[in-house]
Amino acid sequence: MMAEKFIVTPCESLRGNIEIGGAKNAVLPVLAAALLTEESCTLQNVPSLSDVDSMRILIESLGAKTTTTGKGTILVDASNITSLEAPYETVGKLRASFLVMGPLLARFGQAKIPLPGGCPIGSRPVDLHLKGFAALGADIDHSHGFVTATANKLHGAKIYLDFPSVGATENIMMAAALAEGQTILENCASEPEIVDLANFLNSIGGKIRGAGTDTIKIEGVSRLHSKNIKHSIIPDRIEAGTFMVAAAITRGDVTLTNVLADHVKPVTAKLKEANIFVEESDNGIRVFCDKKMDAKAADLKTLPYPGFPTDMQAQFMSLLATASGTSVITETVFENRFMQVGELKRMGAEIKIESRSAIIEGVKSLTGAQVVASDLRAGAALVLASLRADGITEITGIHHIDRGYDHLELQLNQLGARIERVSEKTIDTQA
Ligand code: UD1
Repeated sequence: MMAEKFIVTPCESLRGNIEIGGAKNAVLPVLAAALLTEESCTLQNVPSLSDVDSMRILIESLGAKTTTTGKGTILVDASNITSLEAPYETVGKLRASFLVMGPLLARFGQAKIPLPGGCPIGSRPVDLHLKGFAALGADIDHSHGFVTATANKLHGAKIYLDFPSVGATENIMMAAALAEGQTILENCASEPEIVDLANFLNSIGGKIRGAGTDTIKIEGVSRLHSKNIKHSIIPDRIEAGTFMVAAAITRGDVTLTNVLADHVKPVTAKLKEANIFVEESDNGIRVFCDKKMDAKAADLKTLPYPGFPTDMQAQFMSLLATASGTSVITETVFENRFMQVGELKRMGAEIKIESRSAIIEGVKSLTGAQVVASDLRAGAALVLASLRADGITEITGIHHIDRGYDHLELQLNQLGARIERVSEKTIDTQA
């Protein structure tokens, strides 16, 4: 595929309405969970993202059929699974592919998956997933970069997670849905995407209670099936948060629709602390600013939900880089998640990293530069920073951004930004 980049020209404050799409981090586990049933499932509000394409390719390689039946609607039919081994090429692209392990293991008694890839943020092990499967009675074998899990029949267990990992909670919940007896999952993740997955599992006949709290109880059933399964994916709280920061960094006035205010509470709270106005109404969230008032510094620490999301840390850093005063951001969820810092500094930001904290001295303005998106959210942070920069910014590595945003440039342009997507070939021809 031809490499592309964004060329960002300075713009005025962003204004207008934007509709938020379905959540990437909800649809990926739901696509994996569709492997648990031989019935066809209709998924609605599915975002058009390269990560969704990768997950579809993965489950298709296992024998599932996925068909786009309308805008944002996919029909998944996993009645005829032909392989229990995930191909390396697909799994290498997407860490969430490891989520097919729980469903395959539970329904077919075996799964072989390469160790996952995904955004290069920290070491991102899968030990908690595997400990959970072992507690449910699976044998786990590691060899040649693959993990193989086997079990005649999984059984319920009491499992305490050492850390409320989102992926481990989802994978174990899916496996336990078809295990014999009750599973109690303690210190588990309580993200809205976990609730969405539990709702989907319950809609196909699962018996899951407590999703959204730190203890989930799963009564295993012998078969997951139900006629006319339809599930609508929740709105993407990280996409919403990104547009909220886009409004704030350009001192604009943007209203978001198809967003759940509860899910973006930590972002709303920090925006308010930074002098940005956030108003909730029945049909959305309005983010606006008093142009006479500078955005001001704020400290934040990333935490599992309902704490401030690590997936919004980079974008918020761009805002704080242009706020008056000194802010401290502490990243507690992932190690090595300040990949955007070097690039923001190239745009004139003043940021120092000390261990797991970044100390940000706000500057009056940023300057355009050539920068590289190293991962999805770091890339989004650079796009936001470029909206506030004097001069032209060129952002390469934008395939990372496409993993989690559906044409971010077009959506921002609709609000008044001036971002062009250019392929390397076009650049060569012009040169
Ligand atoms: C999910 C999200 C990702 C988000 C993250 C944290 C999806 C597809 N991705 O990723 O966007 O940034 O939650 O909100 O939903 N860990 C272990 N052992 C494990 C599993 C995780 O040590 O077995 C550690 C990780 O290295 C990390 C922390 O736990 O430091 C959180 O990871 P986890 O919550 O599992 O994130 P993901 O599910 O990979």
